[in-house]
Amino acid sequence: MPLVSMRQLLDEAAKGGYGVGAFNVNDMEQIQAIMGAAKETNSPVIIQASRGARQFAQDKYLFHLILAASELYPEIPIAMHQDHGNSFETCKSAIELGYTSVMMDGSLKADGKTPASFEENVEVTRKVVDFAHERGVTVEGEIGVLGGVEDGHGAGGSGLDHITDPDQAVEFAELTGVDALAIAIGTSHGAYKFTKKPDGSVLKMDVLIAIHKRLPNTHLVMHGSSSVPKDLQDIINHYGGKLKETWGVPVEEIQLGIRNGVRKINVDTDNRLAITGAIRKVLWESPEKFDPRDYMKPAREAMQKVVAQRMTQFGQAGHAGDYSPIAITEIAKGYADGTLTTQPLVAAK
Ligand code: 13P
Repeated sequence: MPLVSMRQLLDEAAKGGYGVGAFNVNDMEQIQAIMGAAKETNSPVIIQASRGARQFAQDKYLFHLILAASELYPEIPIAMHQDHGNSFETCKSAIELGYTSVMMDGSLKADGKTPASFEENVEVTRKVVDFAHERGVTVEGEIGVLGGVEDGHGAGGSGLDHITDPDQAVEFAELTGVDALAIAIGTSHGAYKFTKKPDGSVLKMDVLIAIHKRLPNTHLVMHGSSSVPKDLQDIINHYGGKLKETWGVPVEEIQLGIRNGVRKINVDTDNRLAITGAIRKVLWESPEKFDPRDYMKPAREAMQKVVAQRMTQFGQAGHAGDYSPIAITEIAKGYADGTLTTQPLVAAK
């Protein structure tokens, strides 16, 4: 199957009332793990690459590895997404390479660190939307600022520093015409999100629900959504690691989000933990081993297990065959003639 527009994938998820995991990749084994899980659970999937990943792997390698996945698994809809584009140029380069979706994270300035003004965010996001939609490519924007840093991108600090204001979310969606909207509700990238199991004082599901009430048809995106499971932390620490005690986003909170408009859920850290734990175990138990396949195979299997579990928990499992891909050129026509709406439905307060 050709790569699919993320807009189509999220529209289908909204129809079916489920969420779709967006899993970060840097290398072949991670792509294989995701596709193994998608095949096992019959799931559509979003594979995403950050700027850091594109640099680490080099654009051409990563792009062709994901294309290989779409050739090997023609029955699985795959959207290829740029995670946290920091500028128009980054998004443009992803689109020109063949990504079917981009995130313009205009919540930060182009340095990827300093929070931007609302006006700056609208301006750069709108520019990306115009360029992308002309080519049938989906755009995710962000309003409010996430906590933490991922691959060098992020304002740092706590997820509570810049929680999304629901009124601003409405205005942002109206002014930019984005297909999906990432909101800040207290989560942050990385393993250290919360110092205890999060409650409503730190994980603002009430804000998410308020935004969904105002924007009932907008696809919401939850970033920083790894659950950081204790068993994965324990494996790492058991085999010589030194992770401090930490909590992620409980899966039941993500499921509450999915019942309230969340269609895309970003997960990276849980997979990093699974891979690292598996590699540590092999090298700890068999220090004489030096063939990378001896530890990359169990690492790939450990990641596949986590991804398959999330696909089932997010509800995307079983939905790969629900629809046929719409060509990106047709999607572009849909944006041009208005069949694909870019203006959100806004409910009264
Ligand atoms: P985690 O660090 O919680 O996996 O979040 C990843 C993410 O949001 C990528 O954009």
